Amino acid sequence: MRMILLNPGPVTLSPRVRESMLGPDLCHREPEFAVLQGKIRRQLLEIHALDAAQWAAILLTGSGTAAVEAMVSSLVPSDGRLLVIENGVYGERISNIARRHGIATERVEHPWLTGLDLPRIEAALRASGPFTHVAVVHHETTSGRLNDLQQLATLCAAHGAELLLDAVSSFGAEEIDFTGWPLAAIAATANKCLHGVPGTAFVIARRSALASAGETCRTIYLDLQAYLKNQDQQGTPFTQSVQTFYALSAALDELAQEGGWKTRRESYRNRMAKVRRHLLNLGISPLLAEGESSCVLNAFHLPAGLGYTALHDELKARGFIIYAGQSSLAQQIFRISTMGDLSEGDIQRLCSAFDEILEGGRSRP
Ligand SMILES: Cc1ncc(COP(=O)(O)O)c(C=O)c1O
Repeated sequence: MRMILLNPGPVTLSPRVRESMLGPDLCHREPEFAVLQGKIRRQLLEIHALDAAQWAAILLTGSGTAAVEAMVSSLVPSDGRLLVIENGVYGERISNIARRHGIATERVEHPWLTGLDLPRIEAALRASGPFTHVAVVHHETTSGRLNDLQQLATLCAAHGAELLLDAVSSFGAEEIDFTGWPLAAIAATANKCLHGVPGTAFVIARRSALASAGETCRTIYLDLQAYLKNQDQQGTPFTQSVQTFYALSAALDELAQEGGWKTRRESYRNRMAKVRRHLLNLGISPLLAEGESSCVLNAFHLPAGLGYTALHDELKARGFIIYAGQSSLAQQIFRISTMGDLSEGDIQRLCSAFDEILEGGRSRP
């Protein structure tokens, strides 16, 4: 049975991405690898039409967290100060990363289900500033919330702080304003909205931001300065995951041929609108209002009388993998992502699977 992944990455692969991994054996010190790496770096910048003289895509072998850790540890200078905005698991993880690296860090904590409290953030910027950087998660996958960054960006600009954006679950499908927001860098991964496989992550950094951070010397493996220097010279400081590069290259070709990130956002929105409508008709309500949720993932309240494990197992038996809530949300919600090589028929079958499961539950004595 074909298994459809509705978890927030890894995603259901297209045949082309899957087959690309059977490409020729390749040494990461050979010119063919340099060509592949250079192509991916260019394509990542092309998604948002970024100028390679100002921006650099830096490829790492690791998961999304590696990219976030590389971004935070390489871009906040030794004498820098970081304000972290938290409204879920991944914002909290940024604070943990910063603390482990001994970075002077303050946090603005929010309950997991709330949006950004701008007056409180502004008060923190005023009261304990100046901060060189503010770090935030774009799409907080914990709840499915797409954090509204426009006003935060304005606040940061007014206070002279640059933004470090965890775009792990938004890059490729949600708007990132590289020219309007004071971004120093974003961190993302191959295996979410780009539809590649786990193993390659990347940071897109403003070259001047990396240069002014200087040598932070916090880490050997995640040092973006070293990666940038090597990759600009068609090299790599460490062995890269060659087969996942093949997959990312094929996935980026597909994204461009589909029409780019806006087309992908449209298709995710269409898929999610169908799922939300169908589940609402069955009495399953979304955790957040439509306008607050990303197009990438929505969270839903568990139906009355049906626990997560039972729902998960019933759906798995029908070929669909959903995702649990984290920590305190585990007993309350389940999550569905729209990413990956899904067809309209897949979404239709998912809706029918919910019909069957809930109908079965209602008719059981
Ligand atoms: C917003 C966000 N940041 C970071 C991560 C961590 O990514 P990974 O599990 O690939 O390390 C995730 C994973 O889902 C995420 O959604």
